[in-house]
Amino acid sequence: MTNLLTMNELSNDEIFSILEDANQYKDGKGWVPNDTIFVSNLFFEPSTRTRFSFEVAEKKLGLQVLNFTAEHSSVQKGETLYDTVKTLESIGANAVVIRHQEDHFFEELIGKVSIPIINAGDGCGHHPSQSLLDLLTIKQEFGSFKDLTVSIHGDIRHSRVARSNAEVLTMLGANVLFSGPTKWQDPFNLNGQYVAVDEAIKQSDVVMLLRIQHERHNEKTNPFNYLTEYGLTKTRERQMKKNAIIMHPAPVNRNVEIDADLIECERSRIFKQMENGVFVRMAILKRALQQITNNQEVNGHVIY
Ligand code: CP
Repeated sequence: MTNLLTMNELSNDEIFSILEDANQYKDGKGWVPNDTIFVSNLFFEPSTRTRFSFEVAEKKLGLQVLNFTAEHSSVQKGETLYDTVKTLESIGANAVVIRHQEDHFFEELIGKVSIPIINAGDGCGHHPSQSLLDLLTIKQEFGSFKDLTVSIHGDIRHSRVARSNAEVLTMLGANVLFSGPTKWQDPFNLNGQYVAVDEAIKQSDVVMLLRIQHERHNEKTNPFNYLTEYGLTKTRERQMKKNAIIMHPAPVNRNVEIDADLIECERSRIFKQMENGVFVRMAILKRALQQITNNQEVNGHVIY
């Protein structure tokens, strides 16, 4: 069973293989299944990028897509996640892509269902497909991760993107810095060092901004002054290294964590990240599904 649940379950070789496959898909090449394969996308939390880029990836691979939204399903009648996935498996789904508000939602499924589970984001836990598309974007820019400085800014504590990226970037040889309000520092000793925002920005090859995750906070946060205290202003952007880039998993809150004028500036790779998301998700689906299909890899096969 080839699940994708967290980044730390992937070896460096597996990560580079996924990135290589994503590049193949970007070039219009790569594996596509001959069989009829059904994949169900289960989104229990809102999503635009992850949901639709998985759907585009699935359609580019010729997969049959079963879209599920909790509000229009029997979850409303009390059906559990486990019973929902078991039902989809019985009906014929060959894999499930799941976003869920609970950290580690997948633990109740492991070993109990026999189809691959792809984590599309679990609470404050992990977001491996986002992390892989971030890695692809960084690799396209710098060729390697070794000795790069990547600073991650903002609501670190509630960010599954920060958690997944800090782990894997450190494993791949990058130096990770964090900055942001003290109250949102992560209590679980993430790989990386906290520094003041101005210092982090000056040192970084990659400046990665995060949205304030209001939906995961107990108290209301007023974002007034957040940009000048913690965000990427135009003044700070001028302090960045010559070839440094700006990244953000999005959705972006304009003029909160980043000045709106910087979102599409020359340094920004924010929309490039989204474009890469489709190719990385095609590679993730290949990894999950290749073993359950009969056909062989068709290198050089043009699929669109
Ligand atoms: N980056 C990301 O996960 O965006 P969505 O919440 O829109 O999927």
